[in-house]
Amino acid sequence: MAKKPWEGRFTGKTDKAVEIFTASIYFDKRLYKYDIMGSIAHCRMLEKCKIITSAESKKIIKGLKSIEKSIESGSFQYNDALEDIHMNIEKKLIDKIGSVGGKLHTARSRNDQVALDIRLYLRDEVEAIQKLISDFCRVLIKLAARNLNVIMPGYTHLQRAQPVLLSHHLLAYVEMFKRDKERFQEILKRVNVLPLGSSALAGTSFPLDRNYVAKLLNFPKISENSLDAVSDRDFSGEFCFASSLLMMHLSRMSEELILWSSSEFSFIELDDSFCTGSSIMPQKKNPDVPELVRGKTGRVYGNLVSLLTMLKSLPLAYNKDMQEDKEPLFDTVDTVKNSLTVFCKMMTKIKINRQKMLGAASEEFSTATEIADYLAKKGVPFRKAHEVTGKIVKYCKKKNKTLFKLTIKEWKSFSDKFDSNVLKAIDIKKSIDNKNMVGGTSSKQVVKRIEKLKKVF
Ligand code: ARG
Repeated sequence: MAKKPWEGRFTGKTDKAVEIFTASIYFDKRLYKYDIMGSIAHCRMLEKCKIITSAESKKIIKGLKSIEKSIESGSFQYNDALEDIHMNIEKKLIDKIGSVGGKLHTARSRNDQVALDIRLYLRDEVEAIQKLISDFCRVLIKLAARNLNVIMPGYTHLQRAQPVLLSHHLLAYVEMFKRDKERFQEILKRVNVLPLGSSALAGTSFPLDRNYVAKLLNFPKISENSLDAVSDRDFSGEFCFASSLLMMHLSRMSEELILWSSSEFSFIELDDSFCTGSSIMPQKKNPDVPELVRGKTGRVYGNLVSLLTMLKSLPLAYNKDMQEDKEPLFDTVDTVKNSLTVFCKMMTKIKINRQKMLGAASEEFSTATEIADYLAKKGVPFRKAHEVTGKIVKYCKKKNKTLFKLTIKEWKSFSDKFDSNVLKAIDIKKSIDNKNMVGGTSSKQVVKRIEKLKKVF
């Protein structure tokens, strides 16, 4: 059993089951790089403030760097009796360079150390996720630009409502992911605060230079209250929330891709390389990727709820409960990154069945709203125009006719405001291009938005 840094106060040995139960090394080892980065900055500051000598600092930093190498090469032996990554590294440092290694923890506690590590880790991951969002948006924008003349039915209540451009539909998702990226940028402000120097909870009597550490680690701000600094995990909660929204957006998109690739819709085909077959039904091609992303959304929501519930009611300052912050956070990072990566690849290979989409958009009464608008533009109050149009639809259904098959006489029997121009109004392409206000589905507006979004991503 390894000697523990806090062994001095204890007479009895830790029960093996407790050692295993309390250890976080199984998952917090992924913080090693940040732990070492933080320790090196702390050590430099101790030297600058003359708390340790420059010879001591050199030794410690050299030791830390060689530990980093051994972790990276896979030769580092983790010890669960040493609980977490912080103690594993510290113990190895002392074994390597002798008792001077014990000076590294001067004016520091694992409480401010772990808070620092998570912030450093999350900062990198948020930036990586933002980059993946941009990659994904570029793929969607390209797809929208390449399919500008594809018309599809827009839906409400999953009933065909009005025709829209497929590009407009795709760009709706780009708007969502654009907000997601902005939200992550906003969160970075609060991740980017240096907690180190708060020590266990009260601060320290050593004359530290916290701003120097902040400068070394590229933090624009330092925390202003030591109790808050060691117990604040708001930034992790915000990250999990932003990730939940992002996954919700991916999940809505997944649902549509699943529906669209069914034989009932047949709007798209996912590439074989993103689907699997059935072990029993030879004809099947399953959209596993969007299904899994939709499914994984649940665990990301779950991670947010675990984190919030863990933090609820915790008295200040650090409590061991807080060790439970890492797994939900890590799992969220992994799930979001994996989902974005695979989605991005899948969307570059998607096949669009434009004939099917257009067919579905042209069927039945998809431009009936245009008739009501046509009448309203001729002075008929919209409510009345709506009623008249409803009657026309009822009539067509009874006669088993489409709107395009009505004679002028039939149109006029519903309102004397109708003339042959009504046929132009109900033309699908025209009805789309008439929606030419900012945010509308006209080709002009969509092209404009594509150009703007290209500059954003
Ligand atoms: N492994 C711990 C965690 O992740 C580090 C902080 C431990 N602090 C303590 N006072 N036991 O929360």
